[in-house]
Amino acid sequence: MTVQRRGNPKVPDANGIEKKIKRGNALRQASAWRGSRSSLLMLLALAVILCTLTWLYLASGDPYITATLVRQSEVVLQPKVYTVQCSEDYDNYQRYPGCTPQTCGRAFVDNTVTREEAMSLRRLAERGMALAGSDGGASILDLHSGALSMGKQFVNIYRYFGEEISDVFSEKDFSLYREVRGRIQAVIAKTFELDPSLLYLTKPTFFSRINSTEAKTQHDEYWHPHIDKVTYGSFDYTSLLYLSDYGTDFTGGRFIFMDSNGNHTVEPRAGRVSFFSSGSENLHRVEQVSWGTRYAITVSFTCDPAHAIADPTMPVTSV
Ligand SMILES: *[C@@H]1O[C@H](CO)[C@@H](O)[C@H](O)[C@H]1NC(C)=O
Ligand SMILES: *[C@@H]1O[C@H](CO)[C@@H](O)[C@H](O)[C@H]1NC(C)=O
Repeated sequence: MTVQRRGNPKVPDANGIEKKIKRGNALRQASAWRGSRSSLLMLLALAVILCTLTWLYLASGDPYITATLVRQSEVVLQPKVYTVQCSEDYDNYQRYPGCTPQTCGRAFVDNTVTREEAMSLRRLAERGMALAGSDGGASILDLHSGALSMGKQFVNIYRYFGEEISDVFSEKDFSLYREVRGRIQAVIAKTFELDPSLLYLTKPTFFSRINSTEAKTQHDEYWHPHIDKVTYGSFDYTSLLYLSDYGTDFTGGRFIFMDSNGNHTVEPRAGRVSFFSSGSENLHRVEQVSWGTRYAITVSFTCDPAHAIADPTMPVTSV
């Protein structure tokens, strides 16, 4: 009886234990499966992140580039403006109300200069630079002073080539150049709310042609970070008119604003005007060109009439 009494309750007990053991095994298996599944997911996520980072690194060419302000494929019809706090650089100079930067920043616009005008200006630059050019990767042509890169130095095209210059440039080239620089001045004044008549063209204002050829002199090293107001004291607003397209005419060669919170790039587009206040708030550099040729015009403005320069005109040739 006692055996039976013990035996009887033992039957459900034994069943209970067996069930518990089975359940325990099942749970262990499930959690092991869940565990391996979650680590698999983790691995997958890690792989995705690694691939993305590698892709970003390879795609950018320059590992430091962090954000693009304006892409080549974009068409900016209203100035795209990014304001930044003005540096104290302007305090070291006389202030000109209605001109000296009060609001600082950078802006981009694609319909101030047409593509056709940009192409005409590029052909002008090509013809001018074909007369000489730097041995290294950067050549400049300054129609105001006549300076043109030649080998490791510069020549004055007006003096060196004399009357032959009229075979290379026409009156129309000069008038287009003046017209375009006037429109750039107008868009800078409008965007930064300045009196356009208080803004003056200053030097250096020049065409540039850059490619991947190794630098032969310091003049070829266009990629160093710099501040225009520090390099050229007279600058208050700097502008660039791009004459070629990033991605089709060249790769690399992007413009990089080096900000404390990261680098911000501009992809050149033919006819695009990029303009910015010239102080330390706009520390920048140009990425090295990796392929092809980039043409642009740097057009510089000052508020100080003492640093104003005249528009270039077709040199008078004696007959
Ligand atoms: C860069 O430009 C110079 C001058 O036109 C030329 O001699 C050189 O071959 C060019 N380099 C490349 C890599 O295109
Ligand atoms: C910006 O680029 C420069 C090199 O051009 C690099 O030294 C710097 O670390 C970059 N800044 C950031 C925040 O990535």
